[in-house]
Amino acid sequence: MTGQPNIAVGAPTLRVEGRLKVTGAARFAADHPIEGVVHAVVVDGTVGRGRITGIGVSAATTQPGVLAVISHVNAPQLPYRDYTGSTNPPGQRLRVFQDDQIRFFGQPVAVVVAATLQSAQHAASLVEVAYDTEHPSYDLDSAPTNEPVTYARGTAEEALASAAVQLDVTYRTSRNHHNPMEPHATIAAWDGDRLTVWDKTQWVGGTQAELAAVFGLPLGSVRVLSPFVGGGFGSGLRCWPHVIIAALAARELDRPVKLVLTRRQMYFGTGFRPAYRYRLRLGSDGDGRLSAAAHHIRAETSRYENFQEGILTTGQMLYSMPRVSQDYRTVSLDVNTPLWMRGPGYSTAAHVIESAMDELAYRIGVDPVELRHRNEPTRDESTGLPFSTRRLRECLTVGAHEFGWQNRPRAPRSRRDGDLLIGTGMAAGVYDATRNAAQARVRLDADGSAVVEAASSDMGPGTYTSMTQVAADSLGLALDSVQFLLGDSLMPPTPMHGASQTMASVGSAVQDGSDKVRRQAITLAVQDANSPLYGADPDKVIVHQGRMSLRDQPARGETYSQLLSRQGRTHLDARGSFAPPPPPERFSLYGYAATFAEVAVDAHLGLVRVRRMLGVYDAGRIVNPTLADSQAIGGMVGGIGTALLEHTVTDPRDGRIANANLADYLVPVNADVPNLRAIYLRGEDREVDPIGVKGIGELVHVGVAPAIANAVFHATGRRIRELPITAEMLQ
Ligand code: MOS
Repeated sequence: MTGQPNIAVGAPTLRVEGRLKVTGAARFAADHPIEGVVHAVVVDGTVGRGRITGIGVSAATTQPGVLAVISHVNAPQLPYRDYTGSTNPPGQRLRVFQDDQIRFFGQPVAVVVAATLQSAQHAASLVEVAYDTEHPSYDLDSAPTNEPVTYARGTAEEALASAAVQLDVTYRTSRNHHNPMEPHATIAAWDGDRLTVWDKTQWVGGTQAELAAVFGLPLGSVRVLSPFVGGGFGSGLRCWPHVIIAALAARELDRPVKLVLTRRQMYFGTGFRPAYRYRLRLGSDGDGRLSAAAHHIRAETSRYENFQEGILTTGQMLYSMPRVSQDYRTVSLDVNTPLWMRGPGYSTAAHVIESAMDELAYRIGVDPVELRHRNEPTRDESTGLPFSTRRLRECLTVGAHEFGWQNRPRAPRSRRDGDLLIGTGMAAGVYDATRNAAQARVRLDADGSAVVEAASSDMGPGTYTSMTQVAADSLGLALDSVQFLLGDSLMPPTPMHGASQTMASVGSAVQDGSDKVRRQAITLAVQDANSPLYGADPDKVIVHQGRMSLRDQPARGETYSQLLSRQGRTHLDARGSFAPPPPPERFSLYGYAATFAEVAVDAHLGLVRVRRMLGVYDAGRIVNPTLADSQAIGGMVGGIGTALLEHTVTDPRDGRIANANLADYLVPVNADVPNLRAIYLRGEDREVDPIGVKGIGELVHVGVAPAIANAVFHATGRRIRELPITAEMLQ
């Protein structure tokens, strides 16, 4: 922002949309008042694998208010084309109501549409489905694997066999569900061949592309709106079957249809963090300098899609070592397809690697923080590229100091507080500094206010607010003179609101468009004989509170309004854009974290309580410390869930999820959450994007679970190689 005063960016601004949310005026997917809307309820399959042999609908269709029951028996065949830019990758996917096959427990087998939600719910309970059942498989260990993804650098096997210190550990992590507060919901309405959908999604453009592909429509015939999203954590990154069902039902009935998943249905109607079995072998010298690592990874996927995620990167570049081998195998089970969940891949990898590093530290008697320092690389050893910015050392040092790490006793199980065993643990973490092409539209009106639009999404990080801050500084306007709008596929396209890339990608496009509009105004002023700025050097003009003036001569200037009114212009506008430089990358781009935790474990009951936690982040520039704190605290809370509570339990007989509700699937509540503190290293990374941010939403989750697990070991002397760590395991 050429010389513009930096006022809004970096300030702890409260959420600009906060009032709308607390007064209930913010409209989430199911809230949009659509004239004539009718209600759809999905009938879920009740076997884990097999074939539908019959669907009895007479009891349902004769209920008052019931308009239709749609299943594979009477549904039209849909084109289900492949489409680039869709939320759903090309190839296999669940094609709703297109055949009689049952691929997982809970798969939609029919939908009932009725005038009221109550009659649809009741009628759905009366639909009778008969099955030819086969035996489903949920065993990650014994089921055959898909073609592995492999990586090798040097000859790890030989080095492992000859290493002075050898570690061979197998960790297991459980399946987790996103469980956002807002249930997934869709309202679909057709106008001839044009489809409008109000949906809970983290990517209106991707959902638009998927709907166009499924129904065989041109992209421009589908509009997706999602102005508010009540939490996502990744669950809104796919166009799930219920979205298609709502659109299909609306088309069949020629009426707008609303479909809201129940909490229970979200356990099989959306994705999940897949369960892993992860064997890691480490070799080091007697001082803990790593010589080799071998990673053998198994993860669950569905039978109709091979879902893979970024599980391998951390093992390739977090620490220095000449030799690495990795194999990553997915196992096709009778489940629905998993999806990215906060810190996808990286969190699971960090749990295993950072727990194993802790094991190594105790084995050789080196402080865990010191062990990380000893294995710090000087460049990215997976690519040979220099790091753009890598300040993991500083995260570790600042964290150890601020946490009071040096006061801990070396030996495990050596601190007590009555019946409580006290321990501390730490872990490092890394997450990709992702960014992708994005656009934004900026309009400055003659009254001196601006409207900025980008498709984007705000599932909770505060996109409305942070984008307003960027635009305000770049335009030289007060925050309340800028309105930022998002969540409509008619707006300029943006990448998915995931992988922590929104600030880098959309923010940079917003800044670019705002810069262009400001420069347009300045150019008009310096060329206008009636302007006080006539003849001035445009590079010496700044804008503050909507008034352009010479930087060195503040009295000489005029407002945007004065300029535009005098010239008879209603507005100025521009399209901003951002695109990462074309490949290959010149730098290794990542954010880094160090997380420290203190736990108290009841010596008799095994109950673990986190007492305090500190995260230190090398995340580049912080646009809004209050929003960053809500990300960091949310990430730590999520990590407490991953470490100690969250576990989707599948009944191996039929794939029924035994705890598909928020009473039995445990997430942290207030009593589980202690004092959490976040520190951001001051800095910026202009190699990632012009704003200098590296992304924070995933980074704050990566490393939390292993810090807690390592603290549990320090408290108890018990190494639990499974998540979540429960009281039963520690008794
Ligand atoms: Mo995040 S898992 O990329 O929504």
